[in-house]
Amino acid sequence: MKKAGEVVAKVFDECEKLMVPGVSTYDINAKAEEVIFSNGCTAPCKGYYDYPAGTCVSINDTLIHGIPSKKIILHEGDIVSLDVVACYQGYCADATRTFKIGITNERANRIIDVCKQAFFNGVNLIKPGIHLGDVQEAIQKTVESNGYNVARDFTGHGIGKGMHEDPSIPNFGKAGSGPILQKGMTIAIEPMILEGKKDTRILGDGWTVKSRDGKLTCHYENTIVVTDDGYEIITLRNKEKETICPNKI
Ligand code: MF3
Ligand code: CO
Repeated sequence: MKKAGEVVAKVFDECEKLMVPGVSTYDINAKAEEVIFSNGCTAPCKGYYDYPAGTCVSINDTLIHGIPSKKIILHEGDIVSLDVVACYQGYCADATRTFKIGITNERANRIIDVCKQAFFNGVNLIKPGIHLGDVQEAIQKTVESNGYNVARDFTGHGIGKGMHEDPSIPNFGKAGSGPILQKGMTIAIEPMILEGKKDTRILGDGWTVKSRDGKLTCHYENTIVVTDDGYEIITLRNKEKETICPNKI
């Protein structure tokens, strides 16, 4: 799983270079698949319930599951989430980053910051013996206290040999409820948040999930291993390891 996580991080490093105006989401996915396959991994999203690509690329009001397309072009000021799953020798890692295209406005910058902060406010609680509800409540409180909403119909999840394993991990909940974490468990925590109302809609393609009110959305995700006394994030990019909660890695 750690090797898969390194490849996911490498996808972000390579695709970040393409996050500029004029590039299509098809091009982003093509680069991502090239990195995944050339590093000896598989991309389990491709063919999952007939999903056509190795990654999901979701712009602005698209929350998740944007299908890469030559017709969808990045524009200055957009925020673009890239959701990547890679499996190495049958073991998976899953992560999402939201990138800024050129110069973005304060609204865009703030939702990106809050989404990431919500992730860490939840994940920093992780150690053996805590309840998943503790993490879920911390995520929800961070998001809602900043005036945003968490999506209700999509969740984080266990991960391992399958990209989606039990348990399902909503971005809302109550401290003290839910499964108790144990050393060695591997989970994907992924706040999916909305600037406006919590309602979403799925487009006619059967995949693309948008905010119903057309307002901005954001997604941030990592794969995490519960350790003896805390946790380890296995999908961090090298440049992130220096800046993100270094004492926890
Ligand atoms: N990577 C997504 C997740 O975080 C799942 C992708 S759905 C697929 O769970 F259709 F793209 F596979
Ligand atoms: Co996931």
